[in-house]
Formats: sequence, C-alpha cells, structure tokens
Amino acid sequence: MTDKPQDRVLIFDTTLRDGEQSPGATMTHGEKLEIAQLLDEMGVDIIEAGFPIASEGDFAAVSEIARQSQNAVICGLARAQLPDIDRCWEAVKHARRPRIHTFIGTSPLHRAIPNLTQDEMAERIHETVSRARNLCDNVQWSPMDATRTELDYLYRVVEIAIKAGATTINIPDTVGYTAPRESADLIAKLIENVPGADEIIFATHCHNDLGMATANSLAAVEAGARQIECTINGLGERAGNTALEEVVMAMKVRNDIMPFQTGVDSTKIMNISRRVATVSGFAVQYNKAIVGKNAFAHESGIHQDGMLKNAETFEIMRPEDVGLTETNIVMGKHSGRAALRSKLENLGYELGDNQLKDVFVRFKELADRKKEIYDEDLIALMRTATDPEADRIKLKSMHVTCGTDGPNEARMTLIVDGQELSTEQSGDGPVDASFKCIKALVEHSARLQLYQVAAVTEGTDAQATVSVRMEEEGRIVTGQSADTDTVVASARAYIHALNRLLVRRKKGGTDQREVSYKVVS
Ligand code: KIV
Ligand code: ZN
Repeated sequence: MTDKPQDRVLIFDTTLRDGEQSPGATMTHGEKLEIAQLLDEMGVDIIEAGFPIASEGDFAAVSEIARQSQNAVICGLARAQLPDIDRCWEAVKHARRPRIHTFIGTSPLHRAIPNLTQDEMAERIHETVSRARNLCDNVQWSPMDATRTELDYLYRVVEIAIKAGATTINIPDTVGYTAPRESADLIAKLIENVPGADEIIFATHCHNDLGMATANSLAAVEAGARQIECTINGLGERAGNTALEEVVMAMKVRNDIMPFQTGVDSTKIMNISRRVATVSGFAVQYNKAIVGKNAFAHESGIHQDGMLKNAETFEIMRPEDVGLTETNIVMGKHSGRAALRSKLENLGYELGDNQLKDVFVRFKELADRKKEIYDEDLIALMRTATDPEADRIKLKSMHVTCGTDGPNEARMTLIVDGQELSTEQSGDGPVDASFKCIKALVEHSARLQLYQVAAVTEGTDAQATVSVRMEEEGRIVTGQSADTDTVVASARAYIHALNRLLVRRKKGGTDQREVSYKVVS
C-alpha cells in the first residue's frame, strides 16, 4: 500500500518513456542506463524506464534499469492487456521497488478506437488492474485523455481502478488541453467524489501543447495531487511534457505559497539537463526556464549594473542552486591528464582510463586551436568523445574551398572499417560539399531531417556544436559534434549519426514501435 505524505510531492520522471517517445529522441541502451542512474542519484522518486512490450530493446533497458536501481521506484508502462502487464512485470520485478503502470484511453475519442462500450471498458479496467495488483504491490493506473473524459464516467472508472488495487491514480492531460483552474478543479472533484480516493495518491501528467504544463501540474498539486509526472528539459512528443526542473524549482523558490517538498537535489539539475540534451539530440532553447543558457540574468549580459550591486535585483534563485557554477577559464594547452580528469569529474563525467586517453587527445587538439577552454567546451567535447557507437567511420582529414565566387568543393578522407577512402565533391556551400563526400564514401539512403548549429561560447574562436537528425527506413538517429571549424563539426556530426545508423541497421527493426499506444485525436 502507499504511504501518503501530506506535503511531500513525489517526482515521477518519464524522460525514458514519454520523453524518449519523441520522434528522433531515441536513446541507446547505454544512454538509458546512464540517465536512469543520474535520475536515481538526484532523488527522483519514480523512474518510468520504458514500455517493456514495445520492443526487445525497451524490455532489456527496463530490466537492466530495474536491476541497477538503488532508491527510486522503477516503473514500466503497459496497455490494458494481460500480455502487456505480464511482460511489464517480467521487466520491473528485478527492481528493489517495482511498479506497474497500466492505462487505457477513456475519453469518447479514445474509447472509439478499441470500439468498447463504457461497460466493456469498465470491465477491462477491473480485469487488468486486478492482474497488475496480483503481480505487484505498487500499481499505477491512468485514464488516458482524462481531461476530455465525461466527468461521471471518470469517477466511475477511477473507483473501479481503486477497488481493483491501484495505489496511484494518474490523471493525464494527454493532448495538453486543460488550463490551471480546470486542472485543479478536476483533482479536487475526484478527491471529493470518488469512494476510496483518500486511500491512494493522485498524480498529474501534463503535456505542453498550450504552454501550460507546468502551471497545470502545480495547480493540480495545490488541489491535492501528490505526484507530478515530468521529464528533464520538458522532453516529449509534440510540445513535450511538464519540465522536471520547472516544477521542482517553482516549489523550492515559491515555497512560501506552494509549501511542498520534493526529494530532488536541485544542484544536480544542470548536469542531467546537459546529458539529456546530448543523448537525445534535442538542444535546450537559450531562453528555456531554469536550464537555458540565458536563464540567469548575469549570463545574458543584461542588467549588469543592477547585478553588480545586488544579485537579487534580477535573480530569484542562485545559479548554484541548479548546479550552474560560474563559467571560468578551466584549462589550456599545458594542462595535464590528471587535471582534465578532475575537471571532467566536477562536471559529472566519470571516465575509464581508455576513454580518458581518447578525450585527452581531442582536448589537446582543441587546445592547440583555442587558447582558453571553458567548461562548455569540455561538455561539447564529451558529446561525441564518449560514444562507443561512433567508431566504424572516422574522419581522417578534410579540406574545403569556398567563398563568394565559388567553387565550393570538399576533399575528404575517411577510415571506414579500417580502410582509407578518399573523394572530392562540389556542392551548394562547404557543408553541402562535405556531406556529399560522406555520401559518396559510405553508401546510405538516409535523409537529413535536421541540421542545427550553435556557438558554445563567445568569441570568434568559439566552438560550434552541430546536431543532425537523419532518417532511414523508419530508423531515426541523431549525431552531434563540436569544433572551432563549423564545417568540420558538421562533417563529424553527420559521421556520428551515420555510425549510429550502422549499429541500428545491424540490430534490425525500426523506431516505429512494434506496438503503438499513442492516439492522436
Ligand atoms: O499522455 C498520456 O496520456 C500518457 C499516458 C500513457 C499516461 O503518456
Ligand atoms: Zn504523456
């Protein structure tokens, strides 16, 4: 059964399930394990690790995360079908504290899809929640699209789920349709009108289609919900989910009006935000609340006069509270390997000796070209340096000719599976010419879906980070790289994505889940 804290709000992170479901955000097995470990270390209460029946990969990731978990409850998702629930249990049962999360769409639009009457659906809910509860003491049930479900029917099905043994009832705003007052009203009405409501925890799960996910989640908490479902950086399909960093910091900074506690160590926020941005390939927008590059006034260079006199003039929280240490010149070409290791450890990267050796070589190359190396430079360097998948194709050398009068040409040598291959191509600009070289040397039919460049720090010698997203026969991969030369960074990012594609091709399958469960109305 649940212990029901009064002013403690449980943080349920679904970066690895709802977040990873976002097209292009697919993470590798190793990346999922790493993110789960960081979530556990930062004090997240429940980690939704995946959807075990969706694919063999999801099953393996959820099982492994369950085995490695230390404190957090490990949860898997299951549709309202007995084989889904059994499979979910097989994956989560290895956790110290397992949870099964089962759901069904209850709104008229969602009921129409399995073509069930209200009574038939009620029967299905009873059957599946009972099965989950027979397997596991900790069961969460969600009426998907709850915010567009008839209120009377919602009362009825929530009561059935509670009677069948659900210990948490999650109320999803699946399409990001609700607004704060309505979100609060719904939770208050459920608590007041559903028999057994005082025995369980109500959760809120909001999507950000109208930009109200954080406000809706906090309003639900004020009305009595005691679990917020969220993702790091607000990652998720369409406009994403409620951002973990936003709700945690809102309750911390405005504890005077929202007197709720979480178990999250907020100083770990920046580190995990960066890792999720890197592994998902979804960069954080500069002005994103809490974790954006410009989120702290002094960083953006404005209001400096007021800031110098008193930091509180424009700051409602301190950068250190979210783990942002002041940008400082960290190293240069004379820094040694031990100093690099210690600096990387401070930034949250634990490296083995071989990894450190590789990173050190790249660090030295960078230091030859860039006098001052900042934290951000090292983080950018780590984006590809530690990816074990990125090794079948390597860039040996490249030269480009470009300018106003053309021609735009690239010469490139790659090492592909140990073999040296060279070509020359022309294109519409140096990046296009370089990408054509890669295409000529490594046959593939992947289409470039996204190409994004950002400067890591200020100055003309700043590194550029490049992210690319590619798609081939339903497989979506992302690649990143950073370099003081934008064209070289672009070529490396493309090669990084291609390396990942080769791994996916070998494993077979596509990113289209073998079973689908997201219904767009
Ligand atoms: O948004 C949603 O309804 C979901 C459910 C599966 C809980 O993610
Ligand atoms: Zn969702």
